[in-house]
Formats: sequence, C-alpha cells, structure tokens
Amino acid sequence: METASHNPSTHKPKLAPSMLAGNHAELHKGLDTIKSLPIEWLHLDIMDGHFVPNLSFGPKTVADLRPLAPDLFFDTHLMLSRPDLMVDAFADAGSDQITIHVEPFYPILETLRAIREKGLKAGLALNPGTPLDRTLPFLAEIDLLLIMTVQPGFGGQSFRTDVLDKIRAAHAIREERGLPFRIEVDGGVDSETAPQCAAAGADTFVAGTAFFKAANQDGFRKLIEGE
Ligand code: DX5
Ligand code: ZN
Repeated sequence: METASHNPSTHKPKLAPSMLAGNHAELHKGLDTIKSLPIEWLHLDIMDGHFVPNLSFGPKTVADLRPLAPDLFFDTHLMLSRPDLMVDAFADAGSDQITIHVEPFYPILETLRAIREKGLKAGLALNPGTPLDRTLPFLAEIDLLLIMTVQPGFGGQSFRTDVLDKIRAAHAIREERGLPFRIEVDGGVDSETAPQCAAAGADTFVAGTAFFKAANQDGFRKLIEGE
C-alpha cells in the first residue's frame, strides 16, 4: 500500500536548495552549507521584474558561483518573459539545466531544443494557475517538468496544496507515455510538504526558506539520503 513517504517515481529523489533564500551579499556561505551535505543539485532562481514582480541575479553571479561548486548540478530556473534571449548567457555561465516557463509568448519548442543543442538538460515550468494541458505538446522534449507550488516571484510563501492533483496527473501521464522527465516542485517545500509531493509523484524538491532555516531537518535528511 502507498504511504505518505513512498515515492512512486523511479527517479532517485533530489533536493535542490535555492540560492534565492541565502544571503546575497555572501552567497558563497550558502554554498558552503550545501556542500557540507550530500546534495547534488543547486537551484538558481532568475527573475526579470516582468514575468515575475521581482529581480534576483544574473549570469555573472551564476558564472562566479560555478568554480566554487564544480560538482553541483546547476538547475537554472528562468522566470523571464523572453527566456529564449538568455539561453546562451546562462549556458555559458555554467548551467547544467535550464528551465523555461510555458506561460509567456515566445518560441517554446525551439528554445527547449536550443537548450539541448548546447548540451544542457531542458526543463519546462508551469505556474499554479496554468493547466497541465499547456505542457502536453512539449513533454517528449524535456528532461524535467517544474510544477510551481507557489506563484513565482518570492521565496517564503505557503505551499499550495491544490497543486498536488496536478503533480498526480503529470506523474500519470509520464507513466502512460513512458517518458523519462523528472517532476520538480518549487515553492513552500519543507519537511512536511515534500513527502506529500513525493507521494503524488514528484522526485525533485526545490527548497529555499525551509532549507536555509534548517539544513539538518530530519525530513530533509531523509530526502537527501533518498530514504
Ligand atoms: C519562487 C522560486 C522558488 C523559491 C522557493 O519564485 O522559483 O525557487 O525560491 O523558495 P521557498 O522554498 O522559500 O518557497
Ligand atoms: Zn525556482
């Protein structure tokens, strides 16, 4: 029988701490915390003040972080109205994966392909209010589906429980179609909500505020260690 901690995905669970929640005047310190734990991914939130009502940091910051953490998988989340114009910059900065949103108007398929042509993994993100249907034409072209569990723009918001149904639906489609993409959740993920997402089919967990508040929390440890 399925329990709350059972992960129905075949992907090894990954915790991807978000640098957004760290102190931006000393990002290297946040990185040291991450490197002291058995963590493989780093989530980098890039905001343009247009697609989302906030600004974060740009390719120079990513490029400067890169040599400090050569072994971490740089999971770059572009919250931009024109992510297609910034693929090269974030690829050259050292991203291992670039995730773009499905909501803005730009050539999505071409951008996913451009990311892969640069040798990177390609992700597609959708906001809590965006139906999963919008992503269907692209699912065969992606390595990761990022299901936002808050409205993007700011860290520290409450997890949207209503998004769990979308995670279940995405997982069911993945199984039906035999597709290999990961399902990542982002926003309000903590030791309580992460297991709920895992039970629904998520395998990749972004955590900003909760991670930096309690890097050694039991629930996170379990996720990190893949229990
Ligand atoms: C939201 C960002 C998230 C955010 C998560 O706009 O995409 O990655 O930093 O932060 P928490 O974990 O604080 O909700
Ligand atoms: Zn993010």
